Amino acid sequence: MKIELSQVGKRFSTRHGKIDALREIDMTIEDGEFFVLLGPSGCGKSTLLNLLAGLERPSSGEICFDGEVVAAAGGGAWVAPPQRDVAMVFQSYALYPHLSAFENIAFPLRVGGTFKKEIDPAVREIARTLQIEEHLQARPAELSGGQRQRVAIARALVRKPRLFLLDEPLSNLDAQLRAETRVELKRLQRELEVTTIYVTHDQVEAMTLGHRIAVLQQGRIEQIGDAQDLYRRPTNPFVGGFIGAPRMNLLEAHWKREGKAIHLQLAGQELVLAGEAVSSFAELEEGPCLAGWRPEHLHLKREEERSALTGRAGLSEPLGREYLVHVTLNGAELTVLWAGSPPGEGEMVWVWPELERLHVFAPTGL
Ligand SMILES: Nc1ncnc2c1ncn2[C@@H]1O[C@H](COP(=O)(O)OP(=O)(O)OP(=O)(O)O)[C@@H](O)[C@H]1O
Ligand SMILES: [Mg+2]
Repeated sequence: MKIELSQVGKRFSTRHGKIDALREIDMTIEDGEFFVLLGPSGCGKSTLLNLLAGLERPSSGEICFDGEVVAAAGGGAWVAPPQRDVAMVFQSYALYPHLSAFENIAFPLRVGGTFKKEIDPAVREIARTLQIEEHLQARPAELSGGQRQRVAIARALVRKPRLFLLDEPLSNLDAQLRAETRVELKRLQRELEVTTIYVTHDQVEAMTLGHRIAVLQQGRIEQIGDAQDLYRRPTNPFVGGFIGAPRMNLLEAHWKREGKAIHLQLAGQELVLAGEAVSSFAELEEGPCLAGWRPEHLHLKREEERSALTGRAGLSEPLGREYLVHVTLNGAELTVLWAGSPPGEGEMVWVWPELERLHVFAPTGL
């Protein structure tokens, strides 16, 4: 099912005043897409899912399912939740404790009036897909966290909804189980081809699962794109810093054009950029800017080098294959992902940046 949101806003009135949980959301989710909403706590992710499920009404704008308006602000069109054909899985998956896994999964079918003889095969089919067939007679208390979560997903999917909404469904699981369930979810979604919207604040989860990802901050969409777009071409410093680990370095800088070259001043030093590295400045006004380098695009040198910044090494954090080396340059802090032997604390080093991997942003918006 194709989902379209145009100019959707949601305002809550509380005792402390009004909160704009969502503002001017415009987006289209294609039929069969696995779409991820990513953003920090409080940015409006759950509110957006609730609007799609019909648990809340928008304060402005409208929402369409396959071209039909299901919710419009100001007393406009409204399709009630049961008629929307949407299934939702919450972080706290709330299974009925006194019912077996089988009965939990069968529940929406019984309530929905499915014929008795159709229930058994439907439950078994979805249980097989989710690999929980052997556990159908167990009660929730007898299942592991991962198995319970799969029962909740099976319960949501057994009705074959047109839209599948998941709100941080894996956050109660340990790291290994989370990684495994992530792979299973991706396979399942591909198999069932059901349009899916998945909420998370974990960028790794977002990047591995989503066909496309919308990054939200304070109720607004900052950028929509696939994982590579967001990593390679973040359009603002928020997305630059939010996507990618370890986090992108963002430094206050100043730039000016001299002939075909660009002179970039940061931390009291100057880099001269030419060729491909210049193109990212095309839409920026000369003057102050934010310069962003990911730690994996910075390299350490022990001797003076052209196009390198000098500084002093701070702590080196071992990450296994590499070190995350902290470097201070005239008060500015940088982190460098470094596979070589780490410099000693206080040692003088040269940081050599891959110039064509520089991200530059207008100075506001951090
Ligand atoms: N029913 C409500 N009444 C008043 N304010 C609300 C209500 N629901 C959400 N909010 C506010 O709207 C904003 C967005 O909340 P929302 O739950 O959508 O965030 P979220 O992105 O899901 O966060 P988290 O990752 O912590 O779950 C928050 O500031 C929240 O306090
Ligand atoms: Mg939430």
